[in-house]
Amino acid sequence: MLPEQNPYSPGSGRRPPELVGRTNELEAFDTLRARVTNGLGDRGVVLTGLRGVGKTVLLNEMHRMADDFEWLTVRIEARRDEAGARTVRRALARELVVSARKLTRTRLSGRMRDALGTISSFNAKVGATGIELGVTVSEGRADSGDVEVDLLELVEDVAVALGERRRAFGVFVDEMQDLDPETMGALIAAQHAANQRDWPFYIIAAGLPNLPRVLTETRSYAERLFNYRPIGKLTRDEAGQAIREPAEKLGAEYAPDALDALLDAAGGYPYFIQEYGQAAWNLSPDRLIRYDDAAAAVQFGTEQLDAGFFRSRWERATRSERRMLQAMAADGEGPSSTGAVAARMGIQPSSLGPYRAALINKGLVYSPEHGQIAFTVPGMAGYVDRHHDDLDGSPTGIDDLF
Ligand SMILES: Nc1ncnc2c1ncn2[C@@H]1O[C@H](COP(=O)(O)OP(=O)(O)O)[C@@H](O)[C@H]1O
Ligand SMILES: [Mg+2]
Repeated sequence: MLPEQNPYSPGSGRRPPELVGRTNELEAFDTLRARVTNGLGDRGVVLTGLRGVGKTVLLNEMHRMADDFEWLTVRIEARRDEAGARTVRRALARELVVSARKLTRTRLSGRMRDALGTISSFNAKVGATGIELGVTVSEGRADSGDVEVDLLELVEDVAVALGERRRAFGVFVDEMQDLDPETMGALIAAQHAANQRDWPFYIIAAGLPNLPRVLTETRSYAERLFNYRPIGKLTRDEAGQAIREPAEKLGAEYAPDALDALLDAAGGYPYFIQEYGQAAWNLSPDRLIRYDDAAAAVQFGTEQLDAGFFRSRWERATRSERRMLQAMAADGEGPSSTGAVAARMGIQPSSLGPYRAALINKGLVYSPEHGQIAFTVPGMAGYVDRHHDDLDGSPTGIDDLF
């Protein structure tokens, strides 16, 4: 069928044609939204899971819902690089100013005016943008340069002003496990203060499965601050719906054995569902997708994943790091104990540290628990096994990983 009509959406953060299997998460967020409208408090939300399960899509959906309710929102994505802390604070200030500009058209209460002054002051301190909000800058507020103090003052002024109108201040953070420790600590502390004092301020975050641990290690009370929601595979029924419905809406359908073949290959992972669905659509000569179309799609889709999704990660690793990935792949999807991985590589556990750190930095592996290591993408072990003789080739710095 025509690729230009293909409804599937493989890619990072791309909204799928059918957002299936996430009703509970969306309802939980809707409850939070409704509680804010009723002047009641709640906890922030933390979405965790492997890459490709649909966290970013869900975070974006929640962001959109918050905007619909006229919350003041900012969305940032954390990155592990040297400039990380500065970049993320500037992004926060810039987004905040842009968001707050919308309010300048409305009639502002005195508190809201002051809050805009605080935003301007925070922005001036981090030097994010020259855009002005047309209010007097609240000098001495949120501009000390100590991120914890400044964020707290910012959150207090903004959330209390929004609370007068039963709105909230929402900070949406993607890849939160990669946030620099200082900004992370400051955000958690602000959430803590907000919960205790009933300020409508909420962090809505997404990240790898180790994010809850990272948050708790940063501030032990983080354990109680958030509604933690693991996001995983779709059930077979949900996955079936995710493949079938987009096609049916366009007047195409799957033969039952074709659908089964695609579902077996995708294993319930949203990213793979989109990849195989896209291939099946393109490879089917007419509006009935048959078993042989699906079999060809599995072949093509797997080659596509190998050439893109997996290979872009593999290519980021150096030769020694690839050896570590191979040693991990012996445990299948894992997790692996770092001791066992070191033993397989014939090195001391202490010598594993630098490889482990480099692979974490590159986003290929994460540490689910102390002494453990696991792949961040489902299916990576299979890829590594299929390419075990491909140790050479210099690593690339491809940037569009997720
Ligand atoms: N609930 C869902 N149903 C079907 N496909 C989905 C769903 N959620 C996400 N996807 C698809 O999965 C892929 C990965 O989504 P993304 O949000 O980037 O994952 P993550 O942030 O967890 O790595 C995208 O192609 C997206 O269209
Ligand atoms: Mg993501």
